[in-house]
Parts: sequence; structure tokens; C-alpha cells
Amino acid sequence: MSLSYLIGQSTKFVWYSTHYLISFKYATPIKINRQNPPTFFKKMPSSKKLFYEMIKLFNEERKYINQKKYKIPKSNINDFANVFKGSFNFFMDLPKIDKRRTEKKFKDLNEKNEDLPKYFLRNFHYQTDGYLSEKSANLYEFQVETLFSGSAATMRRFSLLPIIKYLNSNNENLNFLDIGTGSGEFIKTIKYNLPKLNITCSDISRAYLEVAKKKLKNFTDINFRNCKGEDLPFENKSFDIINSVYLFHEVPSAIRSKIFSEISRVLKKGGVFVLTDSLQLGDNYILDPLLEFFPYSTHEPYYSKYIREDLSNTAEKFGLKMYYSKNAYLSKTLAFKKI
Ligand SMILES: C[S@@+](CC[C@H](N)C(=O)[O-])C[C@H]1O[C@@H](n2cnc3c(N)ncnc32)[C@H](O)[C@@H]1O
Repeated sequence: MSLSYLIGQSTKFVWYSTHYLISFKYATPIKINRQNPPTFFKKMPSSKKLFYEMIKLFNEERKYINQKKYKIPKSNINDFANVFKGSFNFFMDLPKIDKRRTEKKFKDLNEKNEDLPKYFLRNFHYQTDGYLSEKSANLYEFQVETLFSGSAATMRRFSLLPIIKYLNSNNENLNFLDIGTGSGEFIKTIKYNLPKLNITCSDISRAYLEVAKKKLKNFTDINFRNCKGEDLPFENKSFDIINSVYLFHEVPSAIRSKIFSEISRVLKKGGVFVLTDSLQLGDNYILDPLLEFFPYSTHEPYYSKYIREDLSNTAEKFGLKMYYSKNAYLSKTLAFKKI
């Protein structure tokens, strides 16, 4: 197994880090005041250190797979037609992102949907159409993998550990809710490992959910709900497990609290909430400067507050007790029990 895992991950790393380097080289440089640079800037980790941290992640996952904690991931890097199409679309879109970034235009949207909250109606990462079109949803996975040099799917898979542990001590026929599903990539991984799980995918973006629906059409027992995480249209105590990946850093603190509160309401007593999102300050001191640099380099308006919030404390106010925390390179997975 180790060899096929190694080949799959190395190919992904080479492919996406090449895209990262090309896009970095041709993008307009981020303006830094060289006379008086921000304090974190001098402490930025070297590429060698970053590479070492990433290798640690892959090595840890290799061990989990050897221990049969979950299945060896299916690599879609050998689906050449799709991978090259993704690359072409990625490069075609780059100049538009660069222009928006240099002009600091983050409200470049056609959507005038009055039902969508102001905090959401923007171009996160200066991406084309924000989260509001199928075009953006189709570009999303390639962009995320490029940002993380091919390690995004691995970081997400760390969610599987507490999920599987919970399922092993319960029964597999449980109700599972995913909040902020996006284009559905991680749900594919969940279904591949846990085919019997009854899944509800939810997202505030109708367009992203449509793309997820298409991507997941060959799986059974999946429902889709277009809704806000802070206003879930579900009965009290209707889910055994709730999962969310890369949503919490993209909402204001007050909305994050409301999402915790809704999760607590719809979770059964003893049920678990598994959260995978960006590392926070202090989780890995080597990477702290990079976390501070992120909102500096792109449009991530709520990220600075996110990396400073005591999530365990906020969750506990809503009856969710944190019992698990595991770093995974630039992300981490936390798990909370409904008490
Ligand atoms: C960074 S993406 C993460 C997508 C996916 N979970 C992943 O692993 O890549 C954030 C997603 O959360 C959705 N989202 C943002 N604010 C939301 C909210 N308040 N309620 C539900 N979904 C939200 C966005 O539409 C987007 O699909």
C-alpha cells in the first residue's frame, strides 16, 4: 500500500505545487511595506520547513491507512481529461483573480439575491463569482488543492478519524449532516469509506450544492438542503453526527456562535460534531506567521478573528464539549460531544 499511496500523493504534490509556483510567479506581488514590515513577516517559515510539515502530514496519513483506520484514497489525478480541463480553467481564471486582488475589488458579483446575508455576498479569495455560480464551484477544488500544494484532500480526511471512531461504537445507520458542503468533494470520501451512512448535505450556496449533487449522483442515501448553517431547517435532536470543513473561518464570529448553537439544537444528546478548519494561532508556532499572512494576501475578512477565537470555549457555551483535537499541517480537526 505504502508505495501506491506514495506515488499518488507525490504526483498530486508535483502537479499542484507546479500550478502554485506558476500562479505565484505571474501574479502581481503582494505589497509589503519593506521599511516597516508586519512583525509576522520576518518570521515566515522557509519553503523547506513547510515541505517538512507537509511530509509529516502525508506520513501520518500513510500510517492511518496502514492501520486500516480508513481506505487508501482514490486518486483522481489519473483522470487526465478532467485534470487538464481543471488546469486550463484555473489558468484562464487567474488574471481575473489577480485584477480583483490588485484593485481590492471584493464585491464583484452579479447576484443580487436579497435573501443572502451581506457577510456572504463577496468574492472570498477574490474568486470569480464568489460562491455564487456553478462556474466558481467547478473551479473550487482545483484552486483549493493548488493553494495547499495537493494536500487539501488529506487534511479533510482527518475528519474521518473521529467520525469512524464514533460509528464503530454506535451503529452505521445513523443520520449525518454536513454544513457548508461546497462542491461535495469530501462527501465522496465519506461515502467511499462509509457507504451506509445517511447523509444530508447543506450549503447556503444553491450553485455549489447543484455541483455537489451532480458529483454525488452515483451514491445513494444523500439529501441536499440549501440553507444557512446559522438557521438550520431541521427538527431538534435529528442528527447523530454533524461535520463541517473549511466553513468556520469564513463567517463572522457572531455567525460562528449561531452555527454552534444550531448544531447543538439539531444534534442528539451524546452525538458528535466534527470540525475541520484552518489551524489557529499557537497550534503550531512554526506556521503562525503564515496564518497571519493569509488575510493579508487575499480577501478573508473574518479569518483574523477566527485564528484568535477559543473555539472550545465558544462551543461549550452551547453545550458542546470538545474531546478531540488533532493538527493536520495547515488544518486541524476538532470533535465535540453534545452534553
Ligand atoms: C471554503 S468552502 C468549504 C467547502 C467544503 N466543505 C470543503 O471542504 O472544501 C465554504 C462553503 O461554505 C458555504 N457557506 C458559507 N457561509 C455559510 C453559511 N452561513 N451557512 C452554510 N454554508 C455556508 C459556502 O457557500 C461554501 O460552499
